[in-house]
Amino acid sequence: VKKVSIGILGATSYTGIELVRRLHSHPHADIAFASSQSYAGQKLSGVFPEVLGMWDGELVSPEQSAKQAGHVDCVFSCLPHAVSAQLCLPFIDKGVKVVDLSADFRIRDAAVYAAWYGAAHPRPALLSQAVFGLVEHYRTQIRTAQIVANPGCYPTSILLPLLPLVKAGVVDTRTIIADSKSGVSGAGRTLKLSSHFVEANENLSAYSVGHAHRHIPEIEQELSGAAGRAVTITFTPHLVPLNRGIFSTIYFAGPPAKQCEEIARAAYGSEPFVRVRASTDLPKIGFVAGTNYCDIAFAGGENGAPVIALCAIDNLLKGASGQAIQNMNVVFGFDETAGLS
Ligand SMILES: NC(=O)c1ccc[n+]([C@@H]2O[C@H](COP(=O)([O-])OP(=O)(O)OC[C@H]3O[C@@H](n4cnc5c(N)ncnc54)[C@H](OP(=O)(O)O)[C@@H]3O)[C@@H](O)[C@H]2O)c1
Repeated sequence: VKKVSIGILGATSYTGIELVRRLHSHPHADIAFASSQSYAGQKLSGVFPEVLGMWDGELVSPEQSAKQAGHVDCVFSCLPHAVSAQLCLPFIDKGVKVVDLSADFRIRDAAVYAAWYGAAHPRPALLSQAVFGLVEHYRTQIRTAQIVANPGCYPTSILLPLLPLVKAGVVDTRTIIADSKSGVSGAGRTLKLSSHFVEANENLSAYSVGHAHRHIPEIEQELSGAAGRAVTITFTPHLVPLNRGIFSTIYFAGPPAKQCEEIARAAYGSEPFVRVRASTDLPKIGFVAGTNYCDIAFAGGENGAPVIALCAIDNLLKGASGQAIQNMNVVFGFDETAGLS
C-alpha cells in the first residue's frame, strides 16, 4: 500500500497531538517529521507521554522543518495564524500538499484578512488558490487543491447546518443569530488566564461579543457566497467548562423545521460524517466528542416563529484535526473515513 509521507508543523499543540493519534492508525500515512518551537530536540513522548509507541521521533525546530520541504508529500500546520502561512511557504513552493489548520488561508480577500488578523498576509496571491476545506461543500475543488484551508471550529458548527438551507434560498439571511459554546481546548494548550481551571470550571462566560470574533469573516464569506449577496450575522461565543466540544444554537427566519430537516437530509444523506437527527433526538456534545461526526437538528419555524438549528461537533476533530485528515483523504483519493472511524 502506498503511504503518504507527512510532516506536522506545531505537533506539540492540542490539534497536533490529535493528528498524531489519528495518523498512527491511518492505513496510508507515515509521519516523517514533527516540529516544535519550544521542545525541538526532544522526543514527542517526552512532552506528551500518551503518544509513546505511536510516533516517537525527535521534534525538529521550525527552521529545520523547512529543510524537509522536498522530502514529504503532505504537511499539516497546527501553528497560530500569521506564523502558519509563513512556515508553510517553503512547502508550498516545493509543491507539497498543505492542510493549514490556522485561519491563514481561509479568507479570500487579503484586506479582510489584514483587518481581522492584524497583519498583512505574507503571500496574498495564494489566498485565491487555497480551497476552503469544508469537505461536504467543496469536495470537488479539494481533490485538486494544493492548499486546503481547514475551517475554523465555530464556523464548521455554524456553516454545516446553515449552508444547505441558504443555498436552497429558504433562510432570511438578515436574521441569522448564532449562539455557540466551546470547551476549553478550543483555546489551545498555550497558557492563558481564562483557561485556568479556577477561571473556567463551574463557570460560563461570553467573549468577543458584538461582531468581534475572528471567525466572523470566515462565516460571513461562506454564507455570502452561498446566498449570492452580502450576509452579516450576529455571533456570540461562550466558554463552557468542558475539555472538548462545540454546541451551536442558531436562530433565523425560515420555513418549518420539518422542511429544514428534509433539505439537510437531501444535502447530507450520503455524507459519512454529518448526521441529521430528528427534532425528538437533539444533538448533544456527548454524542460527538471523540468522533469526527457533526450532528444537526432543527426545531421551530411554525407560524412565523424563528427556526432553531442545533449543531454539535468535537472542536478538535470535526472542528480541526479530524476534518484535516478528511481533507487529506480527499486530496490523495483515499477512503474519506480512513483513520477517522
Ligand atoms: N484548539 C482548537 O479547537 C482549534 C480548532 C480549529 C482550529 N484551530 C487552529 O489550529 C491551530 C493550532 O491550534 P491549537 O489549539 O492546537 O494550538 P496550541 O495547542 O495552542 O499550540 C500551538 C502550537 O503552535 C506552536 N507555536 C506557537 N507560537 C509559535 C511560533 N511563534 N513559532 C513557531 N511555533 C509556534 C506551539 O509550539 P511549541 O509549544 O512547541 O513551542 C504549538 O505547537 C491554531 O491556528 C488554531 O487557531 C484550533
